[in-house]
Amino acid sequence: MSSGILRTAATAVALLLPLNAHAVDWNKASGKDVVLFYPAQMSWEMLLTQSDHSGAGKFREGKNCAGCHEGEERASGKLLVGDKSTEPTPIAGKPGFIMANVKTAHDGDRIYVRVEFDAGQQPDAGMDKEFATKVAVMIDDGKVPEATRAGCWATCHDNLTRMPSGGAIETTKYLSRSRVSLSRKGGADIKPAAELDKIRAEGGYLEYWQARLNPGKPAVAVDGTILEKRAENATPAVTVEATEAGTKWTVIFSRKMSAGAPHKDIVAGKAYTIGISLHAGRAHQRFHYVSLEKTLAVDAGKADFVAARN
Ligand code: HEC
Repeated sequence: MSSGILRTAATAVALLLPLNAHAVDWNKASGKDVVLFYPAQMSWEMLLTQSDHSGAGKFREGKNCAGCHEGEERASGKLLVGDKSTEPTPIAGKPGFIMANVKTAHDGDRIYVRVEFDAGQQPDAGMDKEFATKVAVMIDDGKVPEATRAGCWATCHDNLTRMPSGGAIETTKYLSRSRVSLSRKGGADIKPAAELDKIRAEGGYLEYWQARLNPGKPAVAVDGTILEKRAENATPAVTVEATEAGTKWTVIFSRKMSAGAPHKDIVAGKAYTIGISLHAGRAHQRFHYVSLEKTLAVDAGKADFVAARN
């Protein structure tokens, strides 16, 4: 009889656990430190202009951002967080970079990305009234070559809100292909809906996941896509488990590897690019930290992160 009671208790516990209850053994998962650095107003258009960025020509010739900047992120962040030429409205006392430890895994059904970071003592920017901290992962599956080469910068245009050419109308992240043309100030005119639909059907967009965090409260999970704008999905496929210890957060994103459109299928043998961003100290929009482009593979491959079965 006692074993019957135990079994009932176990069933009840199983029912209470979230769908992604498979416990990943994170000690078994390989991970890497990633520098998240402050990018200020350095837009895609600026980086592609030789007189503004001496890496422009080489980038156009085929050298990726990380090819020149890996290892330099801390110094870049320290410079940019207070540099008036690229950051006209610096946040006093904001650190130039934050270290994150990133691990990936899968269980055959779900892909997991675990981001652990300590944003330290952040000045309160007072911009985001709802959430103190937001961490995001942006994903490409090779359908957006500029994201493969430049990660988050593929979406960071000069006319976004709070960027140098940003206007009164809110403009969120977008891909160049969604615009009729691009100038040094970004692209103003969006392509007709039918053309955007065609690009979307071919997978020419990016996916993102975001965890919105407040101390002592459950994390809010959001996901969406970026083509002509940042578009949030009505119901997220991604779930988030977040735990905190002081100013340190451990955030575990997971979703089904095959979650259906517009989620990108995560499969072995394919190369993915991920970018990670962090808004700390109630910051919003560009006032965040970002990683350079990082590569992700499933099971095996030459990548920064190889998500092994766990
Ligand atoms: C061929 C090497 C090269 C490539 C490729 C390159 N850069 Fe640079 N980048 C530089 C150099 C050199 C500087 C410093 C001088 C300058 O600003 O022109 C710089 C400056 C920067 C800065 C300002 C902070 C700092 O440390 O000076 C940022 C941010 C930056 N690059 C981002 C990028 C991104 C993003 C890409 C990819 C789209 C990229 N770079 C591609 C060489 C490169």
